[in-house]
Amino acid sequence: MSESNSSSLGTAIVTGASSGIGKVYADRLAARGYDLVLVARRTDRLQQIAADLQERFSIRAEVLVADLSQPAGLSATIEKIVSDESISVLVNNAGYSLAKPLTETGSEVMANMIALNVIALTALSKAALERFTLRGNGTIINIGSGAGVAPIAWIPVYGPTKAYVLQFTQILQQHVEGTNVRVQLVLPGAVVSEGWDVAGVSLDTIDPATVMTTEDCVDAALSGLDRGELITVPSLQDETLLRNLEAAAGALLQAVFESGKPATRYGLK
Ligand SMILES: NC(=O)c1ccc[n+]([C@@H]2O[C@H](COP(=O)([O-])OP(=O)(O)OC[C@H]3O[C@@H](n4cnc5c(N)ncnc54)[C@H](OP(=O)(O)O)[C@@H]3O)[C@@H](O)[C@H]2O)c1
Repeated sequence: MSESNSSSLGTAIVTGASSGIGKVYADRLAARGYDLVLVARRTDRLQQIAADLQERFSIRAEVLVADLSQPAGLSATIEKIVSDESISVLVNNAGYSLAKPLTETGSEVMANMIALNVIALTALSKAALERFTLRGNGTIINIGSGAGVAPIAWIPVYGPTKAYVLQFTQILQQHVEGTNVRVQLVLPGAVVSEGWDVAGVSLDTIDPATVMTTEDCVDAALSGLDRGELITVPSLQDETLLRNLEAAAGALLQAVFESGKPATRYGLK
């Protein structure tokens, strides 16, 4: 297809686009006029979604079948970001959870979860950061979770992977400050998706009033992006809670590193 048919907005690459939040991102970005690269493992679903979006929004949608927890799939996706100059948005959305005590979590599942939620997100962010810095603009959207802000006992690996996403994305934001590269961190609460089945939790056990639709989650997140928010928490009614957390973390960080002497409570002379 000739360059003239490309979207002037460029191409958004969305990981985990075969279902849930990623699928809605693909829909909404196509509606905004972006061409798409849809990444996940399930070929049939990706092809169906790509065909539907091309038809409805007259954009180009390419399918990239990749297991991002494996080196080959991750390399292929990095290569796409590095080689396709039209890419202007990365949505780092692919991720999964398992609700099991650590002692009952298989080593392979644990490693795969960290590979997907942490290593792939980091490597794809790095590739996009390098690309976007070169082109002078671009947007990285990292999907973290409210579960990353404090420990939750029944997700002993997933929660910490999202704590990583939180801090890593804040560091990316410091890196791009003052440039035209944007980095947004999205922290959903509970959202209806297949992710709950994957985690082994029935959504029926959760108060429906506390669960958001995928559409509302993504629409609020994109509204947050349009408003210039660095951190968007779609379900957070009282924003001061987030500001307080940031302020407390900053103050603690400073206090920990401002003295080389043991605190007086330890009674050392
Ligand atoms: N739902 C919630 O309540 C909630 C709350 C906070 C944060 N989140 C985060 O939102 C993101 C999306 O989750 P979701 O709730 O929309 O769940 P979902 O419907 O299960 O979507 C997960 C997506 O990731 C893809 N994926 C899984 N493993 C992959 C792999 N190894 N390689 C490539 N793609 C892979 C899946 O596609 P394939 O199976 O086809 O590969 C799917 O498209 C995740 O990062 C999740 O942690 C969700």
